[in-house]
Amino acid sequence: MDLGCGYGMALGLAAFLQPGRRLIGCDLDAHRVMIAGQALRPLHAEMSVHDVRAFPVPPAGLILIIDVLQYLDAAEQRDLLKRCCAALLPAAD
Ligand SMILES: C[S@@+](CC[C@H](N)C(=O)[O-])C[C@H]1O[C@@H](n2cnc3c(N)ncnc32)[C@H](O)[C@@H]1O
Repeated sequence: MDLGCGYGMALGLAAFLQPGRRLIGCDLDAHRVMIAGQALRPLHAEMSVHDVRAFPVPPAGLILIIDVLQYLDAAEQRDLLKRCCAALLPAAD
């Protein structure tokens, strides 16, 4: 899962490293989400326009937040990171 995924580049890399992953991405910018959706269509990525501050974070084995936290204030960062920690699945052996 990539929160603030932009054009979806990190999701593409995650898919390349581990094919078959379920891919979820969101971003505030509808244009970027549209481009990411097109690029990752063959991988069935689930892209949506969402504000990460309100995104209902589903359980996930990998959560990426790259170059995004600086757009949130400290309380919003803490809240998002807490929700991500709660959503992280244990590593598979
Ligand atoms: C510097 S770009 C990084 C994009 C991507 N993570 C990457 O590394 O290529 C920051 C991204 O965060 C998104 N963004 C900023 N605030 C956001 C918010 N509150 N909710 C969702 N996306 C947000 C912007 O739309 C932009 O696509």
